[in-house]
This record gives sequence, C-alpha cells and structure tokens, in this order.
Amino acid sequence: MGTGSTLDVVRHKLSAARSVTVLTGAGISADSGVPTFRGTDGLWRNFRAEDLATPEAFARDPRLVWQWYNWRRELIATTRPNPAHEAVAHMEQRFERFWLITQNVDGLHRDAGSRQLSEIHGNIWMVRCTVCRRVTENRDVPIAILPLCKLCSGLLRPHIVWFGESLAEDDLQTSGASLKTSDVCLIIGTSGLVYPAAGFGAIAKQAGAFVVEINLDSTQQSSLVDVTLQGRAKDIVPLLLQT
Ligand code: OAD
Repeated sequence: MGTGSTLDVVRHKLSAARSVTVLTGAGISADSGVPTFRGTDGLWRNFRAEDLATPEAFARDPRLVWQWYNWRRELIATTRPNPAHEAVAHMEQRFERFWLITQNVDGLHRDAGSRQLSEIHGNIWMVRCTVCRRVTENRDVPIAILPLCKLCSGLLRPHIVWFGESLAEDDLQTSGASLKTSDVCLIIGTSGLVYPAAGFGAIAKQAGAFVVEINLDSTQQSSLVDVTLQGRAKDIVPLLLQT
C-alpha cells in the first residue's frame, strides 16, 4: 500500500473510533529541534543517554549528570511545540475517550495544550529531593550545580525515570487501561527499544486495537503494527484528522 491509501485507511479507522491512545517518543519532538536519544545528534561529549540517565551515574558523579541535564534544559528551553504536538492536543476533543502516553520529558505536549496525558518518564522541568522526596518545578536555565532542596538542603535530582527505575504505578495503570480499551493506537516517533513503553503497542494490538506507527524509519515494532506511515511526525500527524 502506498502512503496515500494507507493514510485513508488510518483516517477511516480514526473517524469510526471512540477510544484512542497515542504513544509518543523523541521523534515527535525532533521536528521542534530536540535531539533524539539514539541519533548521532543525541550524543553529548561522547556519552550515551544510557550511561548518564541512571541512578548509578548520579550516585557516582551528580555534577556530570546535572551538566548533561543543563545541556538538555538549554536545548529544550528554546523549543516550541510543532504541528504534530498540536494535532495530538486536538485529539482530546475529538474522541470520546483519549489518552496520551509520552516518553518525552520536554513538556512540549503540555505546552501544546494536552492535558489527558501521562509523562511516563517524568518532566525535565521538575526536580525531586533525594532526601525528603518533595517534587517541585524548577525552570532555571542553567540550574545551579549542585542544586539543593529549599526545605531540607538535600541534593535535588531530575524528576525523571532513569534506566533501572520503575515507572509510577498510577501512570502504568492509567496507560494500561487506555491501551486495553482502545479502538486505535498511534505510536509516534519512538524506536521501541525501551521497556515498558516498547511493549505498549503489543498490549493494544492484543486487546484488538488498530495499531498505527508513524516514524521516519522502520523500527522494532514495525512488524507488529497494522500499518506504518513513514515520514516526519510534523507532516503526517496533522493529516490524520483531516477528512
Ligand atoms: P529514540 O531516540 O530511541 O528514537 C527516536 C525515534 O524517532 C526513532 O525511531 C527515529 O526513527 C524516529 N524519528 C526521528 N525523527 C523523527 C521525525 N521527525 N518524525 C518521526 N519519527 C522520527 O527515542 P525514544 O524511542 O523516545 O528515556 O527513546 C525512549 C527512551 O529512551 C526515552 O524516553 C529516554 C531514552 O533513554 C529516558 O529519558 C528515561
């Protein structure tokens, strides 16, 4: 099937859908200028995300990890949502039941107006005290290194789910409930390599959803989805709701 006719199939499925789940990854924000994790532009001083986004890396060298987050905060601070984020935000009004699950920590979905969402990997503008565990917003760019809690003077860390850490239980439950009751599931701009999100498409598919992948390239999950729309998220996602 060429992209034209595949697009018509997806539009038709969406026009009949009552319940929709969208899962997004770094690819949707790439069009806003946020580097992805596994592209070469995602590397920082030759470190890979997997070597910095871990509790062990933070315990060993919190300064280095905060420097990396400062680099990412600086990059993200100047970015704006793109037409793909905006189209996803419009979907909230369009369907009887809708849930957005994002792996992105950049906050661009919120900036675009999305409210029915789980930021399952956290948010780069939130910090958490390693001692009293209080979570607060902090939009300083750059953030002072090392940042300390105003309440207890404990060391602050990014409020981000790192490799080896578990997702919040309520995010898992809300996401699972939506995936299992969806008529259509859209998977946008994720390599499908990081679990548990990498398994979400299969959960939706098993429960009977029509699963659509939107990505520049083929991925680990391309073989399980019903259709793939290949291209840039900012070009494709806004077309999905047009009739
Ligand atoms: P990746 O960097 O692994 O994958 C990005 C995906 O987006 C790839 O499949 C690209 O082909 C695709 N892509 C790139 N540009 C695109 C565009 N303009 N339009 C559509 N697709 C495009 O990012 P994630 O899958 O999001 O975890 O990575 C998952 C997690 O691993 C992240 O949340 C992060 C990371 O380590 C944490 O920070 C905890």
